[in-house]
Amino acid sequence: MKTPIIEIKSVSKAFERQQVLNGVSLGIQKGETITILGGSGTGKSVLLKLISGLEKPDRGQIVIETRDIVPLRENELIPFRRKIGMLFQGAALFDSLSTGENVAYPIREHFRFSEEKIRKIVREKLRLVGLEGVEEKMPAELSGGMKKRVGLARAIAIDPEIILYDEPTTGLDPANTERINQLIAELQRILHVTSIVVTHDLESAYAVTDRLALLHKGRIAIVGTQKEFLASQIQEVRDFIEKKIIA
Ligand SMILES: Nc1ncnc2c1ncn2[C@@H]1O[C@H](COP(=O)(O)OP(=O)(O)OP(=O)(O)O)[C@@H](O)[C@H]1O
Ligand SMILES: [Mg+2]
Repeated sequence: MKTPIIEIKSVSKAFERQQVLNGVSLGIQKGETITILGGSGTGKSVLLKLISGLEKPDRGQIVIETRDIVPLRENELIPFRRKIGMLFQGAALFDSLSTGENVAYPIREHFRFSEEKIRKIVREKLRLVGLEGVEEKMPAELSGGMKKRVGLARAIAIDPEIILYDEPTTGLDPANTERINQLIAELQRILHVTSIVVTHDLESAYAVTDRLALLHKGRIAIVGTQKEFLASQIQEVRDFIEKKIIA
C-alpha cells in the first residue's frame, strides 16, 4: 500500500450554524488525479481551501506528506504553499494586474528571482497553456477560456507538486472545455504532479481522472474508479449520475 501524499482525516467545517463538512476522510496518492464531484454548495471549494491551508477545519487532520498542516501558523505553512498550485473557481485573476503580473504573482511571493528570470518563467508557463505574447494584456481583454488558461499558468508558476483545480471548465463552451481538459491531462503527463479537480461535470471528470469522489451531505459518499462509480448502487451516486442532484 502506497502512502498518500495528502491524507484528509475526519475533517469537519461549519460556518456559523451551517455544518458544511462533517467527517470527510480521503487519501490521495502521489501522482494521481482525483476528481471531487458534488452538488452546488456541498463544500467542494471549502475542501480545497482547507487543503491549501487558506482555511482551517474545526476538527480533523490534513496531512501533507507526513505533516498535519492544521495546527501550523501562517509562517509555518509557507513551505506547504510552495508545493501547491491552485486554480481558483472562476479563475479569479487580479483585474488591476496585467496577465504577465498575474502569473508572476506567486513567483514574487515565494522567491527572490531576478526580473529577467521571472519574465522567462512567465513566458514559459504561458507557452505551456498555449498563450504566447499576452503578458501585457489586462484580464478584461481576455475571453473566459483565456482567463482560465492564465489562471492555470499562474497555478503552475512555482512548479507545484500538487495542483488544485476548482471548476476549471465551468462556464466554458465545449471546445474550450475540451481544451482545458487536454491541458490538465498534458500537465499531468509533463509535470507528474498530484492533482485534485473539483467539478460538477462528469464528462470532464472521466476525461481527466484516475478516481472520482462524491461529496454529499458533508461526507465522501464514494471514492473509486470510473467503473466503480458507474456500477455503484449507492443512492446518492445514482442520483448524481442521473443528474438528480443539482450541480
Ligand atoms: N467564508 C465563508 N463564510 C461563510 N460561509 C461560507 C464560507 N465559505 C463557504 N461558505 C458556505 O459553505 C457552503 C459550501 O461552499 P462551497 O463554496 O465550498 O460550495 P461548493 O461545493 O464549492 O459549491 P459550488 O459548486 O457552487 O461552487 C456554502 O453554503 C457557502 O455559502
Ligand atoms: Mg465551489
